[in-house]
Amino acid sequence: MPAMLIKARPANSLLLLLFFVISVKTAEGQEKKPQPVVQKSTTLNAKIDAIVKKLTLEEKISMLHANSIFGTAGVKRLGIPGLMTDDGPLGVREDIKEGWASANLTTDSATFFPNGSALAATWNPALTYRYGHDLGEESKARQKNVILAPAFNIARTPLCGRTYEYYSEDPYLNARLAVQAVKGIQSQNVAACVKHFAVNNQEVERGRVNVEVDERALREIYLPAFKAAITEGNAWTIMSAYNKIRGAYCSENSYLLKKILKGEWNFQGAVISDWGGTHSTVKTANNGLDVEMGSEPPYNSYYFADKLLDSVKAGKVSMQVIDEKVHRILWVIYRTSLSGHFTGGKINTQEHSKTAYDIASESIVLLKNDRHLLPLNPSAIKSIAVIGDNATRTFHLGGFGAGVKARYEVTALAGLQNRLGNNVTVNFAPGYSAIFKQTSAGVNDATSKADPSMIQEAVAAAKKSDVAILFIGGNRDYESESRDRRDLSLPFGEQDLVDAVTAVNQNTIIVVVGGAPYDISKIKNTNHAIVWSWYNGAENGNALADVLTGKVSPSGKLPFTFPASLEQSPAHALNAYPGNNLNVQYKEGILVGYRWFDTKKIEPLYPFGYGLSYTNFNYAGLTTDKKTYKPGDVVQVSLKIKNAGSVKGKETVQLYVSKSSSAVLRPEKELKAFTKISVETNSVASASMKFNVADLAYFNEKGNKWVTEPGDYKILIGSSSRDIRLVTTIHVVK
Ligand code: BGC
Repeated sequence: MPAMLIKARPANSLLLLLFFVISVKTAEGQEKKPQPVVQKSTTLNAKIDAIVKKLTLEEKISMLHANSIFGTAGVKRLGIPGLMTDDGPLGVREDIKEGWASANLTTDSATFFPNGSALAATWNPALTYRYGHDLGEESKARQKNVILAPAFNIARTPLCGRTYEYYSEDPYLNARLAVQAVKGIQSQNVAACVKHFAVNNQEVERGRVNVEVDERALREIYLPAFKAAITEGNAWTIMSAYNKIRGAYCSENSYLLKKILKGEWNFQGAVISDWGGTHSTVKTANNGLDVEMGSEPPYNSYYFADKLLDSVKAGKVSMQVIDEKVHRILWVIYRTSLSGHFTGGKINTQEHSKTAYDIASESIVLLKNDRHLLPLNPSAIKSIAVIGDNATRTFHLGGFGAGVKARYEVTALAGLQNRLGNNVTVNFAPGYSAIFKQTSAGVNDATSKADPSMIQEAVAAAKKSDVAILFIGGNRDYESESRDRRDLSLPFGEQDLVDAVTAVNQNTIIVVVGGAPYDISKIKNTNHAIVWSWYNGAENGNALADVLTGKVSPSGKLPFTFPASLEQSPAHALNAYPGNNLNVQYKEGILVGYRWFDTKKIEPLYPFGYGLSYTNFNYAGLTTDKKTYKPGDVVQVSLKIKNAGSVKGKETVQLYVSKSSSAVLRPEKELKAFTKISVETNSVASASMKFNVADLAYFNEKGNKWVTEPGDYKILIGSSSRDIRLVTTIHVVK
C-alpha cells in the first residue's frame, strides 16, 4: 500500500458483561437518558487478558489492520467480532465496496443529520446529545460498532474545506458539544471515534503538511475539546489526523498519542488511523497507534500486517506492545458488539427526523432584518419568487467526504411549498449554475461568471412576485474534504444575481446556505433581510420555511467569526496559511477566531456568537455567588432575561471572561460558559451558568503546567461576543 493513500470517491456473545444503568447529569445540568456503564472494569480487564493469552501472534496482528474498507478482522474460533466502522458525522454512510463504489444495497439508507457547524450554531448541548443518541441508534441498527464521528477540529481558517463538518473556532463551545455527542452515541453501545487528532485545520496538503504550533496554543485552543471528549465524554476510540505535528505524523506521534492521550488523559480505548494515514511500521507501533485503516487492498501489505508480524519476529516491536493494542481493541468490542446490548437499534424513525428538525430549526441564524421583512406573513402574500440552485439542491451527498444515503431530504423549495400551501404562487428560477474548478493545489475555485439568461429568468420571477427569496451560498461539492476554498467570495456569480434581483424587488430576502464563512459584505450593505442556513439535514426545507414564516423564531448564533475580508483572519493576516515547503507555522498562537479580532481591535463582518431573533431580550440583574474565589472553587453566575418582544424566543446567553493584567498575553475575552433559554413573550426567565476557577488558567509553557493567576477577572455577559450587556468583576486569591 502506498505510504500516502488518498481515496477517490463521490461518497454471540462470548462473555456477557454485567451492566447497570444510571441516570447522568451533563455539565449543563440537563437530565440525560440512561447510559450503559461497564461494571467492574478490573474483572473485564482480567477477562480480556485471558483472551489475549489465547490468541496466536498471527491472530493478534490480523486484528490491528483493516481487512475491508471499513472493517477489521475478528477471531472466529473465539467468537470475537472485528471492528465494523462507518462514517460519519452527517449520519451513517451507505455501505461501500472496494474502490469506494456503492454496495448498491436497498437497506442502508439513514437519517441525514445537520452538519457540524449547524450543530454548533444551535449552542445547544442537549440537542447535540440527541444527535449523538440517534446517530448511535442508527449505527447499531446498521451493525456498525464504531461510528467515525464527531469531528471537531478548530476552525483556524475560514477556507478549510471541512469547516462544515467541524464545530467552531472556540475550544469551549467545541468541548461542550463534543462531550454530549460522544455520550449520546455511546449510550447505544456504539463507540464514538473522535477525530481528527490533532491540528488537522486545513485540507490543502493535509497528508504531508507539518504543523508547528506552540505548546500554549496546542493546550488552550486545539486540544481542549479532545481532552473533554476523552476525560468527560469517555470516548472509546479516537482517529489520528493525516498531518504531522512538530515533524512527526499524528499516527506515529508519541508526544500526542502516548504522552498526552494515553498518559495524561488516561485513554483506555483504541487509536485508529485516518484512512491511509499510516506511514511506518515500527515507529507507529511503538508510538501509540492501535489500528491501521486504509482504503485499498491488498490488506496484508499494510504497515500493521505482514510487516508488523516480521517486526515482532525481528524483536523491533515487543509482544507487550502488540498485546496492549489487542487489549484496547477488545476493550472497545466488549463495550460495543460484545456488550450484550448491541441488538436492535433504530433507523429512519420519526424521532430521528424530529431531532434533525429541531437541530435545523435552532441552527438558522438571522443576520439582518432591519426592515422587518421577516417573518413572512403567508396570508398577506400572494406570490413568492424562489430563486437559486440551493433552493432545490440536496446536501446529503457531495464532494469528497462522507455523506449519507438519506431516506429523504426536504429541499428549501419543497419546505416552502409544504408550509405555504396552494394559496401562495411560487415562481421558481434556478438563478445560477454551481460550476467551479478544482486546481491541482487542492483548492476549489468558484470564480465562475453569472449566466445572463439565468439572471434574466430570475429577475422576471422576482418582478412578478410580492417577495423574492434567494437561496445562494456554497454546497457540498464546493465545500469538501481534501480541498480548501481559494477565497471567501460568493461563488457561481451569485453576487450578480443578488444585485439584479434586489434591483427589481424591494422585498428581497437572502438565504445563504454554507458550512463556513463567505464574504457577504456587499449583501450586508445593500440588503435588508439576511438569513444564514447550513447543510441542514433531512428536515432542512421544513425548518427553513418555519423560520422564514415565523413559526420558529430564529435562535442560531454564529459558531465562528465572519471576517470582513480574508486578510483580517489571523492565519491569513500573518501569512501563515497554507504554509511553505509543507510547513505551516501557527504564528497567531492562541489568538484564533474572535480572540484575534477582539485583541487586535479588528471589526469583523459578523462576530462570533452573533444572531438575531424575531423578539428582543433585555438582560439585567447579574450576580455572582461570591466576590472572591479560591482555586478549586466554582463560580456561580445568574441573571434575568426578559423577552420584551411580541413572540416567544430562545436566547443563548454567553459568558466571557477577561483578564486585563496578566503575566502573559491574554485574549481580550474568552468564552467560559453559555446557556440557551426559552422565554415567553413579556416574561422574565432566570439564566444561571457556572465555571471553575481552574478554567481561568492559562498554560504556562516554561513550567509546562496550567497556572491560575490571582487577581481581578471581568465577567462579561453578552448576546454575542461583541454585544456585551452586563459586566461584573470577581477576585481570585491564591
Ligand atoms: C477522513 C475521515 C473518514 C475516513 C473514512 C478520511 O479521508 O479524513 O474523516 O472517517 O476517511 O471515510
